[in-house]
Amino acid sequence: MTPLTFQQNILAWFDQYGRKDLPWQQNFTATKDEKPYRVWLSEIMLQQTQVATATPYFNTFIEKFPDMTSLANAPVDEVLHLWSGLGYYARARNLHKTAQMIAERESFPDTLDELLELPGIGLSTAGAILSIAFNKSQPILDGNVKRVLTRFKAIAGHPSNSAVNKELWALSRQLTPIARVADYTQAIMDLGATLCTRSKPACHICPLKTACLARLGGNVASFPTPKSAKALPIKQLVFLLLTVRRFFCLLPQI
Ligand code: ADE
Repeated sequence: MTPLTFQQNILAWFDQYGRKDLPWQQNFTATKDEKPYRVWLSEIMLQQTQVATATPYFNTFIEKFPDMTSLANAPVDEVLHLWSGLGYYARARNLHKTAQMIAERESFPDTLDELLELPGIGLSTAGAILSIAFNKSQPILDGNVKRVLTRFKAIAGHPSNSAVNKELWALSRQLTPIARVADYTQAIMDLGATLCTRSKPACHICPLKTACLARLGGNVASFPTPKSAKALPIKQLVFLLLTVRRFFCLLPQI
């Protein structure tokens, strides 16, 4: 399957089944930076968190902080309070710091280098913001995409391994289209979240099924390769047993 066919299959699937009614996909009309503000906020919330969990938090945040300035001016304690229950609280602190940094600028940053300087924004989140908010052709590699790509190309090795990670980024870059990149990014994440799931993937209805190497090899469940269990350290202790008539004492010798 060529990159073009891969993109076409994913986009055709998205047109029919993809999520287009998520709250951060709506109402980008009020101000020029409303869209990147919403996309950034949602992407931070969606790091390690599923859409269903993040959605009510997103709605509350938008109600309380409809724009970057209101979030930047809020006391950090209020932000942390509203975040409570979402977990990974460093995300909330970074969100607030980033809001203050962006609020000082004229507009929301729209280049990879600028985004990567902001707290809480790594390569994949920057890629998601650039593609979804600005329609710039930039790859992403979150957990969902790693699962789709490791299966599609049957890439063995844990994705945190640096050679595997490098291969996955190169593949993601090669497959990311120039046109319709916002839809494509949303589509490949949705595919990973809804069909190409960790357990019980719905391969029979997957738009990539004819070329997915893991499926063709009958071993979808082995991808991504799990992290090998850490060997437990073996501790050795020597004991010295002192006995004085009927009393004895056990002393460890370190
Ligand atoms: N995970 C991270 N970003 C996401 C998005 N925009 N939609 C669905 N899941 C995501």
